[in-house]
Order: sequence, then structure tokens, then C-alpha cells
Amino acid sequence: MSRFDVFREAGNPMFNDNQLKLGIFGPNVNNSCAMTLAETTFKPNFETNVKIAQMMDKAGYECIVPVARWRGFGGPSNFNGECMETYTWASAIAAVTEKIYLFCTSHLPTIHPIVASKMISTIDQISKGRIGLNTVMGWFPKELEMFGGKKMQHDKGYQYATEWMEVVLKMWSQQFFDHKGEFFEIKDGWQEPKPVQSPRPVLINAGSSKPGMNFAAKYTDFHFSFLESMEQAGEWTNHIKKLAWDEYHREINTFTTSFVVCRPTEKEAWDYYNYYVREKGDDEVTDIICQLFNIDTASQSADFNKKFRDNFIAGWGGWALVGTPEQVADKLIKIAKAGVSGTLLSFVDYLVEMPYFNENVMPLLEQAGVRIPVKKEKSSKEYIFTGEMNHSAGVRDVAKEVAVSLASSK
Ligand SMILES: Cc1cc2nc3c(=O)[nH]c(=O)nc-3n(C[C@H](O)[C@H](O)[C@H](O)COP(=O)(O)O)c2cc1C
Repeated sequence: MSRFDVFREAGNPMFNDNQLKLGIFGPNVNNSCAMTLAETTFKPNFETNVKIAQMMDKAGYECIVPVARWRGFGGPSNFNGECMETYTWASAIAAVTEKIYLFCTSHLPTIHPIVASKMISTIDQISKGRIGLNTVMGWFPKELEMFGGKKMQHDKGYQYATEWMEVVLKMWSQQFFDHKGEFFEIKDGWQEPKPVQSPRPVLINAGSSKPGMNFAAKYTDFHFSFLESMEQAGEWTNHIKKLAWDEYHREINTFTTSFVVCRPTEKEAWDYYNYYVREKGDDEVTDIICQLFNIDTASQSADFNKKFRDNFIAGWGGWALVGTPEQVADKLIKIAKAGVSGTLLSFVDYLVEMPYFNENVMPLLEQAGVRIPVKKEKSSKEYIFTGEMNHSAGVRDVAKEVAVSLASSK
């Protein structure tokens, strides 16, 4: 496949006609987005991730965004401590899916841009143009200090990110180039393969500071942020679009994150929410993370603490989609109507709760016209795990099954 065969906007789920695009956030880390000790079948392992990704592929979701994390935050859950590295994760998930768009999430200070650009180009070939990059600078000092020295000062981090991105864009688009900057010196830079996608893989960023939003506006296709209200959703979208257009003559869209508790009745949904957030919530790790964000919970009002902490425990501060299928669909439709392109979802138990969402909420979104019904077709590369997985044997089985399915699909 030549690099000119796939144009980003043609056939790319991130640019499809669905007014509300849907993805998930963090299936590669333990607890995903919920700081809870509630029981779940969810595991941040490859076996579970393949099942989730294939289920999403069939249901027509647009994307998966993994979390980049190098160590846990502590507490009894050691929230996000177990984390599959995201370039290798994306490469493997690409081989067992067909349509869904995948992202690597990368702390730019931890990787040389030449290595990153080549890995993304390689995954682009494996996935046939379905890989993008979530650029993060990192905010958790302890994990970045593992790489030596101190975490880069915040604004300096975005200067570094700008130069990093320039090198990657040159690697993807030019034949031979020299680069001499503050952070990198590249002599006769050259790379093959180039990305399959043209002009380049989709870039996303979730910087909320001024330099962060400026970086997003300059380079990326989607700016990610948390929602505070529908008014704020509209204002934020207008602001970043205007910034990208006025400063860089570029188009950009917005995307948010939400957590889902969807049940046949409102009472069942809130009962479960109360159970996993209030009864089983990991308060210890929530305190640790609040301290990292310099949120002095002792000085806040009880009401603030309850709302803020509850949302944190429930889904990393995402927008609450709690209720019946009709109520959840209604909240999602409002996000789309506010001008936000889509939302990543998180569930406490993906393999149990996501099928219910797919069967009961998706049709309502289609009826409302914010999503187009998915054509039901049998996958030619269906991949099914059988039985319990012994780690090393399981991985060999995966390689064998993928090889067989790819050979039979030729
Ligand atoms: C949807 C979303 C995903 C993010 N993913 C990660 C991640 O995986 N790893 C990480 O260290 N930070 C992650 N962040 C944090 C942001 O990259 C960013 O550092 C944060 O929003 C603060 O903005 P600033 O860098 O402009 O100060 C994420 C933020 C959001 C909203």
C-alpha cells in the first residue's frame, strides 16, 4: 500500500459523518477511569482489550484512546499502576481489528521523535491507516523522574513539544533534512516507511493551560477536555476553533470524556453509582491525586468535595452519564448539539456494561440522527479467545490466530 492510498478524511472514522463520535478511554490501565475497589471482570490485559476492541469495531465506535502511565498513584487500588505501553498496545490491537481508529498516548519527553515517528509509521502500515497520536507532556512528577532528573518546567515542556512535533512532521513528510534546535540536532534526517495516511496520522492533545491549548491549536485535529456544563462546552469549542483559525489558519474539533452507568431503571443506575463510588471508592488514591493537583480538599466546601471527588472516583472527572438508556442517550445528544464532536466513554466493567449500552443506547442515538446505523456485516478477521489464558501460551495463540486470519483474508 502506498502512502497516497489512504487520505485521512476518506474512510477515517475520526472524520466520518456521525455528529456524535464515540470512543473509550483507558482500557490499557488497571481500573481504567474508576478509582474504586468494586468487583469487575475488567483487566488491563491483552485478552480483555482484544475482546473490547472487537466488540467496539462491530458496534461502529470511532476510536480508542489509551492512557500513558509509567507508575501507579498508590492507594489500595494502585490506580493505573498496571499499564500496557501504548505504542506496542496499539500495534497489537491494530492487527486484530478492522475499522476502529487507535491512538498511542505518548509522554513526549520520554521518547526521541525519530523513534516515535517510525513506530507510528509502522503501526500505520499494520493498521492500514488507523493510528493517531495523543501528545502528552506529563504532569505526574514521580513517573517522569524515573527517566532521570526533574520533570521539565511546564511551559518549557511545551517548547520542547513544539520542536518534537516539528521533527516528527519532517520525518513523516520529507526525504532528507537537517534540524538544529534547542532540544534536537538531526543530521540528514530520513525515514521509511512514511505514514500510510495522508497528509499524516490524526493528532490529539488535552492541554488545558494557555501553552497547552496553543500547542493543540497549532498542530492537532482534536482538542480534548472535561465538560463543566453545556454552556462551557460551546464556549470551549468556539474558543479553540477561533484560536486555531486566527493564529494558524487551521481547523480543529473538540472531544470530551464521560463515564457511563446505564441500567434499565434510574434507581438501579444510581444504586450502582453509589455502590462503586461511595461504598467502594478508593478514597486513599483520590486524596493522593487531589494533592498532586494541589487541591486542598480540607479547605473546600463539603458540597464541592462531594461533587468533585465523586466525579473523580466515578470516571477521572468525566461527564456523568448515569441513568436509563433514554437518559444516557439524551445527555449524549446534548453533547453533540453543543458542538462537541464526540466523547470517550469509560465503564467499570466494559465486557458486561458495554454490550448493554450498545444494544440500548446506540439505537436511540441513531433514531435521534446523531449517529448513522452500522451495517451489520460478518468480520472476515473475527478473532475469538477461548478459555482461560495462560500468559505465554496465550500470546503464542494470538500470533497464530492473527497469522491465520490475515492469510485467509488475502
Ligand atoms: C482526555 C484526556 C486524556 C489525557 N491523557 C493523559 C495521559 O494518558 N497521560 C498523562 O500524563 N496525561 C494525560 N492527560 C493530561 C493532559 O495531557 C494535560 O497534561 C492536562 O490536561 C493539563 O494541561 P496542561 O499540560 O496544558 O497543563 C489527559 C487529559 C485528558 C483531558
